[in-house]
Amino acid sequence: MAGQKTPGKKASPVQRQALKVEKTTSQSASPSLEALMQARISRRSALRGGLGLATTTIFAGAGVAALTGCSDSDDDSDDSSTSTMQLGFSSVDGSDVDALTVPEGYIAEILAPWGTPILGSLPAFATDGSGSTNSAAEQAMQMGQNHDGMHYFPLSQSDPSSRGLLVMNHEYSNSTLFPGGARSEDVDGKPTDPEQVRKDINAHGVAIIEIERNGEGQVSLVSGSGFNRRITAATPMLLSGPAAGSSFMVTAYDNSGMTTRGTVNNCAHGYTPWGTYLACEENIQGYFITNEATPPREKDRMGINDAGFGYFWNNVAGDASEVNGEFARFDTTPGGGDATGDYRNEANTFGWIVEIDPRNPSAMPIKRTAMGRFRHEGCTPGRVVEGQKIAFYMGDDSRFEYFYKFVTDDNYDPDRPSPNMLDNGTLFVAKFNEDGTGAWLPVDYSNAALATDFVSQADVMVNTRSAADVLGATPMDRPEWTATDPNTGEIYLTLTNNTQRVSGDENAPNPRADNSHGHVVRLAEDGDDPAATGFTWDIFVFGSNANADSAFNISGLDASNEFGSPDGIWFDSRGILWIQTDNGAPLDFGQNDQMLAVIPANLDGDRVITPDNNASLRRFFVGPVGCEVTGVDMTPDNRTMFVNIQHPGGHWPQGGSAVPRSSTVVIRREDGGEIGT
Ligand code: FEO
Ligand code: CA
Ligand code: CA
Repeated sequence: MAGQKTPGKKASPVQRQALKVEKTTSQSASPSLEALMQARISRRSALRGGLGLATTTIFAGAGVAALTGCSDSDDDSDDSSTSTMQLGFSSVDGSDVDALTVPEGYIAEILAPWGTPILGSLPAFATDGSGSTNSAAEQAMQMGQNHDGMHYFPLSQSDPSSRGLLVMNHEYSNSTLFPGGARSEDVDGKPTDPEQVRKDINAHGVAIIEIERNGEGQVSLVSGSGFNRRITAATPMLLSGPAAGSSFMVTAYDNSGMTTRGTVNNCAHGYTPWGTYLACEENIQGYFITNEATPPREKDRMGINDAGFGYFWNNVAGDASEVNGEFARFDTTPGGGDATGDYRNEANTFGWIVEIDPRNPSAMPIKRTAMGRFRHEGCTPGRVVEGQKIAFYMGDDSRFEYFYKFVTDDNYDPDRPSPNMLDNGTLFVAKFNEDGTGAWLPVDYSNAALATDFVSQADVMVNTRSAADVLGATPMDRPEWTATDPNTGEIYLTLTNNTQRVSGDENAPNPRADNSHGHVVRLAEDGDDPAATGFTWDIFVFGSNANADSAFNISGLDASNEFGSPDGIWFDSRGILWIQTDNGAPLDFGQNDQMLAVIPANLDGDRVITPDNNASLRRFFVGPVGCEVTGVDMTPDNRTMFVNIQHPGGHWPQGGSAVPRSSTVVIRREDGGEIGT
């Protein structure tokens, strides 16, 4: 969900745009454009003479830092890492129409929009023209709203691309969920109908659906498959790791602090090499309230206040139908809620990475507290190597928040993966240096720097943001997804935007004060080691409108590839990098959100997007009006691509005056060939 988006009227969330509560943490000293250019220009490329005069002047004037950058192909020849693969499509035009755009020779089809029945009695989507008229129970048997992060898990060993499980997040809800497109509310704008609140709860969470592909390449849902499952904001879940069972997690629901109910605001996602899905809990502060004058830091630092995003599910607490504090728990004020008990700690059981086994429909989801509590965007593994630890990279999507990685204690053994590999490991937060190096700082109670302010590892994990403040992590421009280059192991991180830096508060990895269009940072672990405590970094591309001046449009984007607010980012198995956008208003260019592609290995020199090579970055896909393009995966044969369209703002996909519905889009080539090449 965009921080500042003004979606079309029909897609308007129920008062609940992510008004991301800002914490301006201390920032590192500010670098100039010179420092920025330094960070982008390696010594070797300067020697190659590939620089323009102006750039050379800046470079010389600023003094040459001997940067190695992230490149592992830092020699003169375009060496063995250079791909022979080329993008096989021409950039499509930007579009502001209420339809999908794909390159010539491609087909895009709709799969499993919100309200599609997948379970139980398979209740059909029912609408009055403005909103859904399905019941709460029916919504729990249908696809949820606002499709987001997504992963494909093959089911068939012999033909992994023809049958699989598609797992996706349903990030939040829109007013289209309710009859007439409006929730029943009291004069304070709070919900009054418990049935509607249950429906809202059931529209959130995760969906697991079995899909199959026919000989023509068309993909369809296997209705009623035994694998099909909805996980909602009410589904019982286990807590594990260092915070589980601690006093921070004790609620009236579970005095042992070992379980909770539900997951919310699952934005991007992750996956593990042992075949599980990771749903990431992002803007949990939208759902819980507290009326405390001085909330404890575990609430305050997460932005929990007396209003949230306006869901106010607690408002129907005390209704005769309420079961076990199902509504009361969203009011975390001590003594608040109703007579069902104390839920002051309920929000502490949210803000985690949630591990889900898609192949076992009866397995409880597990919240892995060793991976930290913040506004989790994604959780993507770095390159996985047998016999090595695995690193998972995680953004905390708020302005001036941090970038993290979790490193497992155990080495990866594909034959015997530890079932609780995500419970034992070390969380690190990134500190970027201006010279193109960086350090991973342990967010761990064993770190002496945390001894004064924290009492236990549970305390550190529940209060991850506060611990990272103490450590002096680098405040970033809203860290969103990461992608791992399968060929080099480098990590690409989207920084979606930030217009609240003031001049002088820029830092090296976030060098634009008015960063309305975001950028992508690339990291390489020292020694290509997932457990490294040092890294090098570079800036891969700056988002921009084409007509911006060169001080802003640093990558030289033009009409064929201008973009803003990179959010989703993903490498396919061949090494094509796909970038998806979630534009906040105001747009500097009149086009819908989109997805672009580039093959970083084909870029010369430092392998960053520059005015000289920017044709390498091509627009592949444009979504309908008012949407966000988020979530992408492919079948292993690269012939079927899945892309999610979230909160379409017009009438897509049905058109006419229909209620807009988030949906998965399946993209294939007319000739059945591989996508992108
Ligand atoms: Fe839900 Fe960070 O976008
Ligand atoms: Ca976003
Ligand atoms: Ca996102």
